[in-house]
Amino acid sequence: MPAVSMTVNGKAVTGDVEARTLLVEFLRENLRLTGTHVGCDTSQCGACVVHVDGKAVKSCTILAAQASGSTVVTIEGLANGADLHPVQAAFREHHGLQCGFCTPGMIMTAVDIVNRKGNSLDEHTIRTELEGNLCRCTGYHNIVKAIAAGAEAMGQEPVAQAAE
Ligand code: FES
Ligand code: FES
Repeated sequence: MPAVSMTVNGKAVTGDVEARTLLVEFLRENLRLTGTHVGCDTSQCGACVVHVDGKAVKSCTILAAQASGSTVVTIEGLANGADLHPVQAAFREHHGLQCGFCTPGMIMTAVDIVNRKGNSLDEHTIRTELEGNLCRCTGYHNIVKAIAAGAEAMGQEPVAQAAE
């Protein structure tokens, strides 16, 4: 069994995994970080998005062994203690979720969009960038509003930084 080691939400972790173990399985089953969800087996839904070395990655698409040595941030690592990350707060404020299953992946993707595209996001950009994240409940309207608001809030001080 390969041993993997990585930094997850600011902590050094190690584990023995099978060669076929996916990163999402390592996070959920070895580390019990169950905020990262599995919503499909076709790499389409985006419920499993985490950040690997600062970039959004569908954690069902890479092996745990491939992520060894990386810095990973999951939804559990986004808040600053009791203070929600601005994008999390915006989802709450703008009712950007219903059942919540897609929400961790939506939020991790949203933070990545802001990191790449800046704090002023128009609706077209947000909808285009969300192509890899599916939601069965909301119709996306409030998700788009929440991401636009969260992006703006990330540009204001003080900003809660992810542990990456
Ligand atoms: S679980 Fe659906 S894309 Fe990863
Ligand atoms: S809120 Fe239910 S899948 Fe998106």
